[in-house]
Amino acid sequence: MKTPWWKEAVVYQIYPRSFMDSNGDGIGDLNGITGKLDYLKKLGINVIWMSPVYQSPNDDNGYDISDYQAIMKEFGTMEDFDRLLTEAHNRGIRIVMDLVVNHTSDEHTWFVESRKSRENEYSDYYIWRDGKPDGSAPNNWGSCFGGSAWQYDSERGQYYLHLFSKKQPDLNWDNPKVRKEVFDMMTWWCEKGIDGFRMDVISMISKTKEMPDGEVENGLYGSFGPYCIHGPNVHKYLREMNETVLSRYDLMTVGETSGVTPEQACLYAGETTNELNMVFQFEHVDIAGRFGKWNDQKMPLTRLKEILSKWQTQLSGKAWNSLYWDNHDQPRAVSRFGDDRPEFRVMSAKMLATCLHMMQGTPYIYQGEELGMTNYPFESPKDFRDIESIHAYEEWCESGRVPHETFWPCITAVSRDNARTPIQWDDSPNAGFTKGTPWIQVNPNYKEINAKAELADPDSVFYYYQKLIALRKQYPVIVHGTYRLLLADSEELFAYTREYQGEKLLVVCSFVDHKVSYELPEEFKNKELLIGNRENSYGTEVMELSPYEAFVLRAV
Ligand code: GLC
Ligand code: CA
Repeated sequence: MKTPWWKEAVVYQIYPRSFMDSNGDGIGDLNGITGKLDYLKKLGINVIWMSPVYQSPNDDNGYDISDYQAIMKEFGTMEDFDRLLTEAHNRGIRIVMDLVVNHTSDEHTWFVESRKSRENEYSDYYIWRDGKPDGSAPNNWGSCFGGSAWQYDSERGQYYLHLFSKKQPDLNWDNPKVRKEVFDMMTWWCEKGIDGFRMDVISMISKTKEMPDGEVENGLYGSFGPYCIHGPNVHKYLREMNETVLSRYDLMTVGETSGVTPEQACLYAGETTNELNMVFQFEHVDIAGRFGKWNDQKMPLTRLKEILSKWQTQLSGKAWNSLYWDNHDQPRAVSRFGDDRPEFRVMSAKMLATCLHMMQGTPYIYQGEELGMTNYPFESPKDFRDIESIHAYEEWCESGRVPHETFWPCITAVSRDNARTPIQWDDSPNAGFTKGTPWIQVNPNYKEINAKAELADPDSVFYYYQKLIALRKQYPVIVHGTYRLLLADSEELFAYTREYQGEKLLVVCSFVDHKVSYELPEEFKNKELLIGNRENSYGTEVMELSPYEAFVLRAV
């Protein structure tokens, strides 16, 4: 059987607002992306996933859509989009759209109509409930962005459910009219020639009919998880979507499925289940602590290896992995999993890239990761632009629950704004991102870390990614090889092998800032070096690995 293209692909995620501003209004846009296609072509990626570019009042930067078939004004026009699609295709780059259909904006006409009364064409498009007899919310669920998950609407005299902000009401997928609207809209985009969908919080589209109080985790609100995540009809609706839309086009689909286990992933993205191609799992980036997701702890390496190895082995032959260290909702990879101190940044960024890109699955590069961009040095809550960070600070600190000094390191370590500072293109003002005033601060380290400098340096993180991507195209063992973890108990080294049709790779990555000695397995002594972030000898003697050293050897 021929391997589907998305199994051999390397995806680059663009957060359009922060990528490149072409007209000086301080906001990244579609023409900005089109102007950088040659840069991406040079990197070697063959798919772009764009975070939402649809019309939106931007309560959650485009994840609150008011018109699915129009382009956000700040980002340009539909003609700009069509040109981007054509120019990308001309370069052999496919475009995957973000599909946000768990919820819409409260400014979408469906919701504007729905809230008017209990009996109208759209009244059942969203999830409406009466309050309790005392007038309070139907249950104790908290939303992901703080506060109750219910908002009272005086026009209609009922509460609506919003798992995210109150400007993001949840659609009622149990209504067949809603599913038809969504599928028609998806078909419209497919007819335009787009190449796939990344499906936002798709594991939350089906809710239980009964909506009891949830377990209270952090003292304020109850969890909606058991009633809204992987709900009763989610697989039925995805199969319906697949039959009605997806199966009729040559697409790549990836579902954002927080809380997913490998068993569930085999349903969402099984080779034979006819739903999606891949899912994003979150186990390796979820390190909940005292303040929920707000946590500055590093995951022990043994735990990280255990999680990623479980996904490698348990999906093998049954479903396909998506590989990522970061995205627009996560801190920068090199700051979280590597070491962003100047003396270690480049080595550890290359090490992380090696570790991820040699695994089985489709790798995703988040914009700026290929430059080794770092977290932002936040100074005050005023620096936040992200609705989640702003509300979290209010709910945990301004409320007086936790002192600022205790909470500050935790929120700055994982704030989504770390990923959303503009791409550092060069060392000119605003890192060359805009000629105007950027909508969010530029990381002050742009004079040292920027694309122009890296393109001029053959030893840069950029060219290391370029080489990894090229290797994946050249060696089928990187795409198909069977994974086996070595040294499971080491807190210093992440080492594994890949094996396919008599060809074998050894991948060794040091996750620590000190030297480590290491002896190669017999079968890899004096074998071919495919890639490494430092010179070393790969012979019979015990090796001394430098901080964050990484290499890949190939034996045939
Ligand atoms: C997903 C998106 C995130 C967004 C949320 C609500 O998790 O990745 O950015 O805020 O869904 O749409
Ligand atoms: Ca602009």
